[in-house]
Amino acid sequence: MKVKVLANFKMNKTRKETKEYLEKLEKVDKGRVEVTIFPPMSALLPSPLVGAQNGYPAEKGAFTGEVGLEQLREFGIDKILIGHSERRQLGETPQFLREKSSFYLENGFQVFFCIGEPMEVHQQGKEAIGAYLLSQLEGIDLSHPNLHIAYEPVWAIGQKVTPSLEMIENIGHFIEKNTQKPILYGGGVKKDNVQEILELSPVEGVLVGSASLDFDHFAQIIQIAKSVAERKQ
Ligand code: PGA
Repeated sequence: MKVKVLANFKMNKTRKETKEYLEKLEKVDKGRVEVTIFPPMSALLPSPLVGAQNGYPAEKGAFTGEVGLEQLREFGIDKILIGHSERRQLGETPQFLREKSSFYLENGFQVFFCIGEPMEVHQQGKEAIGAYLLSQLEGIDLSHPNLHIAYEPVWAIGQKVTPSLEMIENIGHFIEKNTQKPILYGGGVKKDNVQEILELSPVEGVLVGSASLDFDHFAQIIQIAKSVAERKQ
């Protein structure tokens, strides 16, 4: 099977740095691994390896500071992250995230829709976590083949702590049972844990933040994912 490895640069790297990174990435043997990097908007580049961290749900118009379909299309972008907790924290509402998802799905994008519980919900246990995650998926077109779910527990993002493998597997199975889709996992993924995470049965990929910023580290993650993809096929 194809394994997906995504790199979320967040607000890191200049256009020049992204270009140099991409040039090196293009030369990497990726085997059956589908690799996408999500640089800041100012560093978008026309490449099948590049996706957008954000996009406004309109082709163009009077939306100051936003980037829409017309601008993303100019770069041939057809992959987008939606619902990342860092954007939810900035005030993106569930209704707005539904609008974004359906707009970009209708326009042929691969949508990586991020969900994940904060620590206070996590501490309440399995049922609370399940209910929280399902509520984040309300109104999202789960039957769409281009809709992918990234499970990123908020408390593990940018931290050294990751959930146990058992926890990722259980939550992954729960999401899979309710959506008929495998998950991508994100939150503290690095070369030392990526193999065991990718080997879990409900996991079809990973979303890597901090560990993707160093090209050599990310290239090692791709190599590990490549061998998992060969075994998992
Ligand atoms: P992290 O970020 O790998 O730095 O935890 C993941 C993400 O936010 O997508």
